[in-house]
Amino acid sequence: MAGVALAGRTGEVLAGAGDVRELLTRAERDRADALRSAADRDDFLAAHALVRLCAGELLGRPAQGLTVVQSCGRCDRPHGRPRLDGVAGVGVSLAHARGWVAAAAAHGPVGVDIEADDGRTPLDRRLAARACGPAELAELEAAADPRRTFLRQWVRKESLVKVGECTLDEVCRLDLPVHRPGPVRRGAWRLTDWSAAEAVGCVAAREQVRLRTVSGGRRHRTR
Ligand SMILES: CC(C)(COP(=O)(O)OP(=O)(O)OC[C@H]1O[C@@H](n2cnc3c(N)ncnc32)[C@H](O)[C@@H]1OP(=O)(O)O)[C@@H](O)C(=O)NCCC(=O)NCCS
Ligand SMILES: [Zn+2]
Repeated sequence: MAGVALAGRTGEVLAGAGDVRELLTRAERDRADALRSAADRDDFLAAHALVRLCAGELLGRPAQGLTVVQSCGRCDRPHGRPRLDGVAGVGVSLAHARGWVAAAAAHGPVGVDIEADDGRTPLDRRLAARACGPAELAELEAAADPRRTFLRQWVRKESLVKVGECTLDEVCRLDLPVHRPGPVRRGAWRLTDWSAAEAVGCVAAREQVRLRTVSGGRRHRTR
């Protein structure tokens, strides 16, 4: 079976996932409760629920019984790259961005990213210059919509950061093709793009993973 990845609006994920707090660990609930903004809290809860739904679908197991643990390798706080406790060989990933969330599970490392696109914020050329290589920058400037094109490159790069291909400071070395039909590849990684009118996303894995959109209010199986 291929990997499983889902993306959608936070509100739709929360509407379909039942009591999401019940799915989370104490450490995750504490992290959610520490967030001041209700919108950030919802994004966090939705993403952490969605990653269990992806893993549950991949494993054919109820999401309820899956425990996500996190470690950054630098400190003792329960944050950083997520993994499933007691399930070897399966990678998980999650992302949240201003009302949108994405998550993925695969047989091996997987990285997912999502960015909201309000359609108005202009291209941040300084950020683009830090994040892109020369060939990408030239392609970006020539694109019909450089702003959206940069967002596309950014989520591709962050998905590769999440599989450990490089750090956030090194993403300009990932000189990825901007325009090319078919899935973009980087070494062994296969990048699969996802688009909505107001968001873009990407999932990176060694195996095939299709990033599906969470459909409005559909109740997911958690038990
Ligand atoms: C990975 C990273 C690029 C994503 O950050 P972002 O764009 O702000 O946020 P996103 O919504 O796309 O992704 C956040 C999720 O990525 C996951 N994540 C965090 N670090 C990760 C890593 N090193 N590898 C893979 N996934 C990671 C977490 O699940 C996190 O969600 P959570 O905080 O709700 O648990 C960023 O967190 C990073 O650079 N981390 C490394 C820095 C670090 O190690 N700090 C240690 C602090 S002690
Ligand atoms: Zn840390």
